[in-house]
Order: sequence, then structure tokens, then C-alpha cells
Amino acid sequence: MSTLTLTNVSYTYRGAKKPAVSNVNCTFEPGRLYAIIGPSGSGKSTLLSMMAGLDLPTEGTIAFDGQNIAEMDLDRYRRECIAMIFQMFHLFPLLTVLENVCYPMELCGVKPADARPHAERLLKSVGITEEQMKRFPSRLSGGEQQRVAIARSLATGAKIFLGDEPTGNLDVANTNNIMEILKALAHQEDYCVVIVTHDLDVAEAADVVYRMKDGVLTLQKP
Ligand SMILES: Nc1ncnc2c1ncn2[C@@H]1O[C@H](COP(=O)(O)OP(=O)(O)OP(=O)(O)O)[C@@H](O)[C@H]1O
Ligand SMILES: [Mg+2]
Repeated sequence: MSTLTLTNVSYTYRGAKKPAVSNVNCTFEPGRLYAIIGPSGSGKSTLLSMMAGLDLPTEGTIAFDGQNIAEMDLDRYRRECIAMIFQMFHLFPLLTVLENVCYPMELCGVKPADARPHAERLLKSVGITEEQMKRFPSRLSGGEQQRVAIARSLATGAKIFLGDEPTGNLDVANTNNIMEILKALAHQEDYCVVIVTHDLDVAEAADVVYRMKDGVLTLQKP
């Protein structure tokens, strides 16, 4: 399955006068690509980081397949249930591309001999060649690095994919390429894909679009 249900979710940063996220109610389902748009400072990243289990709501609940994540082992939730990428890729610079993808699997206890072929399959599925797998990330283009970050995020088998401005540093061609990969994850592999974006063309490619304004989430499409 892998469904996230947000019920009356609010988040107020310590010392802040008003909430960054205010009473959000919505459900994110497998098989669909969601985009969240909205002005800078409207609370998009705050919402996504709660969905990722990096912060817990100060009010309300987030449930993963019906289970309140506040009652789960959060480290495990983040590791096993959530695949997440960011605008700046965040690959390990001193590990090769292949090692970058093997690493999270090994952290989850997968033997290196098993991690390697799985990592190679994931990297191939996002269009990274065997020669590129041996390089350090700095020797790849931005679009290629983001594809490596996607492969790495999927390595542990999590089915909820979250992206905070995943195409924010890419040109149009690479943006389209990443969006095709994310659409395929949702529509062919039944991932629940949620991305935050400033790019209205990117949002146009989503099945469902939400708009965030002053911490309040409203449905924009369909
Ligand atoms: N660690 C923090 N401590 C205090 N306030 C914060 C913190 N992080 C964010 N905020 C505030 O919370 C609000 C929402 O921030 P958030 O980062 O979620 O916005 P955003 O929609 O992702 O913006 P952007 O499009 O610029 O990334 C902003 O007013 C911001 O200043
Ligand atoms: Mg943000």
C-alpha cells in the first residue's frame, strides 16, 4: 500500500507567532504524482519534512497505512518507508556513484554482494551507464546526479517518494527527464510521489496539484 493521511496537521516553529503549516487535511495515495506549489515561505518544505518523519507535527497526526508515525520507530520509518531527494542532490562526494547507491542498503543490513547488483539495476533504470557508475558524483552533470539521487533514495524499497524542488537546479531537458522518471514511478510502479516545486510546468505534469499559502493547503487540480 503506502498511503499517507494527514489529519489536522499544524507545525509551529519554536518561538514563532504563527504556524508555518496550519490545519492540513489530505491523503496521498500510491499510483499518483502530486505537486505542491506556493510562494517562498508558505510552508511547503515544513510540510514535506513532517511527511518524511524529520519533524513531528506540533498538532494533528500523520498516518502511514493507518498507523500514526509518532508511534512508530521514526528512524526506521525514515529509512524504510520514505525515499527523499532534494534540490542539491546531496550525494556523498568521496563515494563513487555505485557506492552512493549501495551505502543506504548496507546501512539497512544488506550484504555488499547483494547490494551491488541491486544498485546497478536501479542506476540502469534511471539511465546511468556502467562507466558513469564508477565515477565520483562531481564528474556527472546535474541531471545525472539527480538521477543517481533518485536511484539511491529507492534503494531501500520505500514506496513513498518525496522531492523538495527536485528539478530546481536543472535545465528544461533534464527537468523533463526527471519528471518522466517520477511519472513512471507513480504510474507504472505504484509509488506515491509528492514533489514541491516552483515550476508551474512541472506542476502541470502532476495528477494532483495542491497550493500552499500562509501554511494553508488547498486543492488546485483536479
Ligand atoms: N528552522 C526554522 N525555524 C524557524 N522558522 C522556520 C524554520 N524553517 C522555516 N521557518 C519558517 O517557516 C515558514 C515556512 O518555511 P518553509 O521552509 O516551509 O517554506 P517553503 O514554502 O518551503 O519556502 P521556499 O519555497 O522558499 O523553500 C517560513 O516563514 C520560514 O521562515
Ligand atoms: Mg522550501
